[in-house]
Amino acid sequence: MIKKFLNLGYQPLANSYLREKQINKKEKKFKLEIVFNDKNFLVSINKKIPTKEMFNSDYPYRSSLSKTMVKSFKNISSTIKKKFNPKFIIEIGSNDGAFLFNFNKKNIIGIEPCKNVATITKQKKYKTIDKYWTKNLARSLTKNNNCDLIYSANTLSHIENLKETFGAINLALSKNGVLILEGPALLPCIKNNIYDQFYCEHIYVFSTIALNEILKNFNLEIFDLNILNTHGGSTRYFIKKKYNKKYKIKKKVQKEISKEKKFGLHKFETYLSFSKRVNKSKEELINILKKLRKDNKKIIGYGATAKSCTVLNYCKINDKYIRYFLDTTPDKINKYLPGSKIKIKKYRKLSKKDADVVFLGAWNFKKEILKKEKKFKKAGGKFLIHVPKVKLI
Ligand code: TYD
Repeated sequence: MIKKFLNLGYQPLANSYLREKQINKKEKKFKLEIVFNDKNFLVSINKKIPTKEMFNSDYPYRSSLSKTMVKSFKNISSTIKKKFNPKFIIEIGSNDGAFLFNFNKKNIIGIEPCKNVATITKQKKYKTIDKYWTKNLARSLTKNNNCDLIYSANTLSHIENLKETFGAINLALSKNGVLILEGPALLPCIKNNIYDQFYCEHIYVFSTIALNEILKNFNLEIFDLNILNTHGGSTRYFIKKKYNKKYKIKKKVQKEISKEKKFGLHKFETYLSFSKRVNKSKEELINILKKLRKDNKKIIGYGATAKSCTVLNYCKINDKYIRYFLDTTPDKINKYLPGSKIKIKKYRKLSKKDADVVFLGAWNFKKEILKKEKKFKKAGGKFLIHVPKVKLI
């Protein structure tokens, strides 16, 4: 049974940044509710938006803009070469090539349906297919299951049709092939009140127990995993075909399943108490912003993320509270955050002249950003963060 546990209100499409001329037009909004499936433990959003409305030639996200992500992709690439030595790799969701570029052009194909982003890797002569990952595409790219490694980071949670996705993976993957999936993990998300991990593009936030159940339907199984710090806590899963005996299932997998069950990720009550904490977090964020405004503090935002879209619209925060956001992404600059209509300006180093308090929309890069903005903190500037708890740092 599918059970609702969190209502995040009416939300616009998170990555639909508005141009100046669009700000007075009515935006398309949808009710964002989060649900739990008590059969396979999958947590998802209830309303699925047509993919073409989200992943098109206006897609702004660029993985290469974060040092943290570039480093993470470099590390996994060198592990892949050492451990698996693949001759034919497919990356599902190759974005601007932060993973792809670690490999020889001859050995790898990127799948990236957002044409504007796909062009970046094509220009560097990396074979990139600007289509959605489907069984037909898998058939046309591979001959008799000859792909020995499929990698996909922060993409699977964006694809609604898991049957088509895993069906296509099964068609492409060789007998001893390995599938590596990584993405935001449900356990840290629920533990640390990371409700902004939910937005139109994040249809699913996976737990190990849920992924394990889903993979059973496709004769696939997890044989290893890594816990990562990226995106507020991610998991990287190493998956194989069930009959492939080349890799033994590591104890870590069962350990993670036990940890998730101990926390209660298989029980609906856990999600109900998460929902209560999220409501409280909203009240606290609004109260702190009201107080800062009353004290005439200049507040700006840092990192106009898709995640901030959820927070701003759920808490009904607009430019009365946060004057503008700074961001490094060229496609976001001089546009406005959807719903809240807060302007995004080109990033420049933080200065006390511009702000007293900075709301960290990209809190998942807190370490990287705080290092970069040491001077601002030294001068008495503060960061406002809402996870795991609302506080000024
Ligand atoms: P991210 O958290 O990856 O994504 P999502 O949109 O999926 O929630 O986005 C990070 C955003 O923060 C991106 O727009 C770039 C911006 N950013 C900066 O402006 N400066 C920085 O130093 C970093 C690390 C990110």
